[in-house]
Amino acid sequence: MPTLHDESPQGRRIAAIALGKRGGAGAVAALRTALAREEVAWVRPSMILALGKIGGDEARAALAEIDARSDAETEALRKARDRVSGPAVGFSWRGDAPVFAAVPVGLEDVAIAEAGRATFVRRGIIALPSRPRGLRCIYDLRILIAEGDPRAFAETVKRAEVRWREWIHSESDVLPYRFSLENARVTKQEFNDLLRLARETFSPQGLVDSPSSYAAMLRVEADADATRIWLVPTFEADERFAYRVNDVGASINPVVAACLARLVRRGDRSGVVDPTCGSGTLLIERALLDGGTMLSGIDISPTAIRAATGNVIAAGLAARIAVRLGDGGDAAAWPTQCDEVLANLPFGMRTEDRNLDGLYRRIVGNIARTLNPGGRALLYTTHAKTVVALLRRTAKLQVIEERRVETGGVSVGLWVVERG
Ligand SMILES: C[S@@+](CC[C@H](N)C(=O)[O-])C[C@H]1O[C@@H](n2cnc3c(N)ncnc32)[C@H](O)[C@@H]1O
Repeated sequence: MPTLHDESPQGRRIAAIALGKRGGAGAVAALRTALAREEVAWVRPSMILALGKIGGDEARAALAEIDARSDAETEALRKARDRVSGPAVGFSWRGDAPVFAAVPVGLEDVAIAEAGRATFVRRGIIALPSRPRGLRCIYDLRILIAEGDPRAFAETVKRAEVRWREWIHSESDVLPYRFSLENARVTKQEFNDLLRLARETFSPQGLVDSPSSYAAMLRVEADADATRIWLVPTFEADERFAYRVNDVGASINPVVAACLARLVRRGDRSGVVDPTCGSGTLLIERALLDGGTMLSGIDISPTAIRAATGNVIAAGLAARIAVRLGDGGDAAAWPTQCDEVLANLPFGMRTEDRNLDGLYRRIVGNIARTLNPGGRALLYTTHAKTVVALLRRTAKLQVIEERRVETGGVSVGLWVVERG
């Protein structure tokens, strides 16, 4: 087994890599000593990377002392320091400048209604006159850095000027970022070239590529009509959905759930049912809208009911939301009446979901039977044909709205119906 004192440079390199993987007492000190006497340019980066791999305060201190002697060493140092750095701290928003927000495609109007003075920009993007607080119907807040021709990634990056200090205060006066290219298929080489160009362009502007510990995402998005570069600050913890301590496979995105809860809302004292509640996201988002609502959830899966129970408790809503194991198609599982129904129906990917048409028919029957006059139900599923056919046959329920929502790469149908 080669050692850090090996006569052959290749042996010393192999020993450094192995030590980086193994770590343990004395590993950092040994690498530090070896690096001090190592003269072979292609061995030194492996020793630096090994220090990064070991991590911890001692490795961080050792890495801080190193002055890079070559490009390869600079790159290794960047990676290693990135690895040992802690969470990004020392950042805050500066003022309340106008910003954009990413929102669910198909639900932009709901996000605008929640925000107040916001405007539609394009699918999935709204503009806000000043930085908002606490909105539930947005994915993120973002700043537009540059726009260019479709697929003109390099040209758009080259021309970009990131005046991030107008929005963000940084104690260190630099902004660590994580680079990403979205919606574009490129080779690894093309991606690396673009990343290198981004580093060269943005480094003089006070931006540091730091993929493990960053305060903002720098996203190059390949839209059909343009290439856009967004700065998406991430230094503020997003506590909005902290109640989601448990998840089920088919959980709805909580931002989408917050939008759907607003679409079905009839009043501040509604009785609400979710007949296929999963982890309870829709119920919780609806309950958070109005303190006078009482809500019940049903799910056929014990795992889902356990998840929902945990989430409801974490949200502090156990007094108003009751969830129970049952069949949402079974009339006996429903309350005798309700004002609102929120149903994110199973899409049919799981074993319990066989005979979906039958389940949908029974759930729509339960909605028609229990919904109070003037009450509203929202159905959310990819099975458009089944829903459309059922609603056509259900005279008591009038479709007042139908739309498609894009989420997680899937297009989902949404119907809001009202009991006449
Ligand atoms: C799309 S998921 C709902 C996800 C939920 N909105 C969330 O955020 O977690 C559909 C749920 O329907 C449940 N399900 C399937 N068949 C059911 C039935 N007959 N009665 C009640 N729930 C059922 C599944 O267990 C699953 O949790």
